[in-house]
Amino acid sequence: MSNERLKSLRSKDLVGIAPLEPGEIQLILDTAEELLDIARRPIKKVPTLRGRTVVNLFMEPSTRTRFSFEVAEKRLSADTLNFSASGSSVSKGETLIDTARNLMAMAPDFIVMRHPNSGAPHRLASMVEASIINAGDGINEHPTQALLDAFTMRRHLGRLEGLAVTIAGDIRHSRVARSNAYLLGKMGATVRFAAPASLMPLHAETLGVEVHHRLESALEGADVVMMLRIQRERQGNMNFPSLREYFDFFGLTPERLELAKPEALVMHPGPINRGVEIDSAVADGSRSVILDQVTNGVAIRMAILYLLSGGHGEPTPAS
Ligand code: CP
Repeated sequence: MSNERLKSLRSKDLVGIAPLEPGEIQLILDTAEELLDIARRPIKKVPTLRGRTVVNLFMEPSTRTRFSFEVAEKRLSADTLNFSASGSSVSKGETLIDTARNLMAMAPDFIVMRHPNSGAPHRLASMVEASIINAGDGINEHPTQALLDAFTMRRHLGRLEGLAVTIAGDIRHSRVARSNAYLLGKMGATVRFAAPASLMPLHAETLGVEVHHRLESALEGADVVMMLRIQRERQGNMNFPSLREYFDFFGLTPERLELAKPEALVMHPGPINRGVEIDSAVADGSRSVILDQVTNGVAIRMAILYLLSGGHGEPTPAS
């Protein structure tokens, strides 16, 4: 990794972690650190993106990502337009490209996009002038989630390099797992994927991760344990006999968590399915930083919007 500190991102878009350099990841995390302060002010608003317009284009359900982006945009004083597939002309058969062309005719500066098809943000990014931010595309990537996860790890543990991060659950259908594997690998952490064979991607080792088919072996000495829900909406049939059996073998219980380091963090991108991938005693326990992830997500999204807008001036001017 170069020691030279970057001041801006190379691309107009954030479509994934894969194209980012380690210095760009560091820049986003450092900028988010500065922006966290705004949430502690009595007036949580700065004029940084005044006069800029952001379209939030969500073609799949979302609670955290959508609200987090909207909060980030409002805190930076951007004008925000929300678009969802239901209630729009997508339900009348309009294509993504036609939808985007019509939105572009209204001259937005950013389009934050969640889409069920892998690669949809990349296609849009090559067609429009606005900055495209990927808020999750199919089973491909969820870059802002991986950035907020890394930010949360760094804030609690002081570093990313050298950490052992266990990611367990439905890895096969998880864009979060993929983005985290790219990011943590670039930043010098070791990633362990843990899943039954039916929920592990083929050739997972090519992502530079350790592959485990027992949760216990993946948990031994881990610094971070990140649990993922089973993405039933992306599977025709369940890839295991029952949810009860899944919990028996892959659920994170207080007893299993004892295998990780005593100070290990418990993380989850949400939404949680309690009693399936994680016991409530762990999700709500003292090592859980799940709600910190949500808080940190706003600062990460503010940092990305600020940096993609050119990163001019201070990110945190007086309100
Ligand atoms: N973590 C995450 O993407 O959650 P949402 O689906 O609620 O946005």
